[in-house]
Amino acid sequence: MSLHPIFNIKNGELYVENVRVMDLVEKYGTPLHVISSNRIKQKYGELYSASTEYWKNTLICYAYKANPTLAILKLLHGLGAGAEVVSAGELYAARLIGVKHDKIVFNGVSKSPSELSDAISVQVGLLNIESLTELKLINDIASKLNIQVNLGVRINFDVPVRTHRYISTGMKFHKFGLGVNEAFEAYKLALKSKRIRVRGIHVHIGSQILTVYPFVKASNNLVSFAEKLYETLKLRLDLIDLGGGLGIQYSLEDKTFSPQEYCKNVFPIITEKIGTIFDDESIIILEPGRYLVGDAGILLTRVNYVKQIGDIKWVLVDAGMNDLIRPALYDALHRIVVVNKFDLPSVERYSVSGPICESADVFVRDYPLPKVDIGDILAILDTGAYGISMSSQYNCRPRAPIVMVEGEDVKLIRRRETYADIFMCDLNYR
Ligand code: LLP
Repeated sequence: MSLHPIFNIKNGELYVENVRVMDLVEKYGTPLHVISSNRIKQKYGELYSASTEYWKNTLICYAYKANPTLAILKLLHGLGAGAEVVSAGELYAARLIGVKHDKIVFNGVSKSPSELSDAISVQVGLLNIESLTELKLINDIASKLNIQVNLGVRINFDVPVRTHRYISTGMKFHKFGLGVNEAFEAYKLALKSKRIRVRGIHVHIGSQILTVYPFVKASNNLVSFAEKLYETLKLRLDLIDLGGGLGIQYSLEDKTFSPQEYCKNVFPIITEKIGTIFDDESIIILEPGRYLVGDAGILLTRVNYVKQIGDIKWVLVDAGMNDLIRPALYDALHRIVVVNKFDLPSVERYSVSGPICESADVFVRDYPLPKVDIGDILAILDTGAYGISMSSQYNCRPRAPIVMVEGEDVKLIRRRETYADIFMCDLNYR
């Protein structure tokens, strides 16, 4: 296997950046999440330079749901990223680390009245609606609070994408956004409200998308729709939100596209219309999550047992589907490396599984690895996005700590949970 971008080899041993992986294991134990700070910086930098080459007013709003660990949010904030949030909890995190209100995009298909109040009170830069009822609710809340809302409309253009069916979001049988007719209606109604500044248009067609074409299609649809808004309502929008969804390479078969390819194909579709149907000072917003943090993270886990039942050789580790649910939920492939044997040939085939009492608790099946022994340390790769954020305490398992590596430096950015943490909110049991 070619070397993963966050790894280095020194003196025949595996390092994340300049830190020996086995030192991390010895110091912090397993399961352990490791995040490479320089990889996040590199990914952000590449997307930022590619996009600003086409349009200087580009705002990259990191999708917090991918990994809302505060130190990661802070790192991206320091690089200049805004925040894409989908709950009052994520909004709280953005405020906590000091993201300016106008760099926050608030999305969500079923925002509660109290979440809308929070978003409106904070005066987020863009609040994207997903129904006509939500528009009415926003108008009522904004009138009560006497605050102007920067409003956008998420439109469902029925764009198919090839990805797992659970993470495709832009087709007409999905719950997301407004259909084109309702969306037009929403703009018309919103324009009548004194409390609403109609500014944005939003598409997000899905996640882990590996070709540029669906983004091109969605952007063309967006522009045609905006043309209609301009021609019939004289509306010139200035916040063009293209969503997230840029895929990463989980397996060697995954052919991804570069940020340059994405921007070269998508941005001109929009920028060509800035100054005509879009405002001269328009901001293009991107909402990447996985692209920024996905391949910056690994999950380290220790082998507890190796056993064979029938033809299957099981490697049983101390991380479970509560730490990383993607294989169980989406059949997602995360490559695995035996850290202390990374240079040995793969001579066996194993199914790697965790301690959870469920048959879905399997990370990989029939997977080639060197001969594995008890005590070996496995690295499950590319767990930076939707690993930690979707983790749970299922089976009363404390969630794993997170360390961030930058060059030679290691920072513990989340401690391991204790058993007391698990029951922290329980009441009335004595
Ligand atoms: N914007 C919106 C409105 C979204 O719904 C999402 C993701 C993003 C941006 C960021 O998408 P990304 O750039 O990360 O693809 N748990 C799944 C992924 C769910 C994505 C949900 N929405 C997984 O583990 O693959």
